Amino acid sequence: MISEGKKPHFYGRRKGRKLRLGRRVLFDQRLPEIAVTIPAGGSKFFCDLFSGSYKEIWLEIGFGGGEHLAHQANSHPEIGFIGCEPYINGVAALLSLVEEAGLTNVRLFNDDARLLLGHLPENSISRVFVLFSDPWPKKRHNRRRFFNSENLGALSRLMTDSAHLRFASDDMSYIRWTLDTVYRHDDFTWQVTGPEDWRRRPYDACETRYEAKAISQGKKPVYLTLLRRPRGG
Ligand SMILES: C[S@@+](CC[C@H](N)C(=O)[O-])C[C@H]1O[C@@H](n2cnc3c(N)ncnc32)[C@H](O)[C@@H]1O
Repeated sequence: MISEGKKPHFYGRRKGRKLRLGRRVLFDQRLPEIAVTIPAGGSKFFCDLFSGSYKEIWLEIGFGGGEHLAHQANSHPEIGFIGCEPYINGVAALLSLVEEAGLTNVRLFNDDARLLLGHLPENSISRVFVLFSDPWPKKRHNRRRFFNSENLGALSRLMTDSAHLRFASDDMSYIRWTLDTVYRHDDFTWQVTGPEDWRRRPYDACETRYEAKAISQGKKPVYLTLLRRPRGG
C-alpha cells in the first residue's frame, strides 16, 4: 500500500483537449455520483459496490476511452466494475458510454490506481484488466511501467483465489518484463496451453482503442491470462 503522504509520481497525461460542453457537464455532474473516493484520514475505504448487491467485483486499470469497461459492464450486469483512469478526457468518454447504455454497475476512480489498491478490501476482486498499459519502451523509463512486483503484490492481496488478471500489450519487451515479474512472484502463474492463448483476444473482450491502433500499424498484440494462485494451496 502506498503510505500516507508519499504520493507516487504519475508520468502520464491527466488532461487533453478541452472537453466538449456535453462531456464537461457529464464530468461535473455525473462523475460525483459514481466516483470512488478515498475518505480523508486514511479510514477504511467504503463503497456501495461491496454491500453485497453484486456477484463479483471486477477492476480495470488504465481504461483509456473506456470502450472495454463499458462493453464488459454491459455484458455482465450482475458484476460491479471499478475503473481507474487519471486522464479526464478518458473518464469523460467512459461517462458518455455509461450514460448512453444506462449502465448502473460502474464506479470510477479518476486518479492513479496505485492510490486506491491498498484501500480495497482483501480478497474482494475477481478479475483485473490491465490492457495496453503504457509500455515506457526506453530502458531508462522501464521502471515507470505499471506492471511491477510492487503493484502485483498489491493486486495479489485484493484478488480472490483463482482470480484472473488479464494483461495485453503490443510491446514485446513489456510482455517479457511482465512474464518475468510473474515468474518471480509466488502468488501468480501464467495460464497457457498453447499459442492461441496469447495470440487471440479473449472471446468475451472487445477491441480497445490502443489495440486497434497497434493492429493498424501491423503490430501483433499479446494477451496474457495470469492466475492468482489459491491461498494456502
Ligand atoms: C496506452 S493507454 C491504453 C488505454 C486502454 N486500456 C486501451 O487499450 O485503449 C494506457 C492508459 O493507462 C492509464 N494509466 C497509466 N498509469 C496508470 C495508473 N497508475 N493508474 C491508472 N491508469 C493509468 C493512462 O492514463 C492511459 O490512459
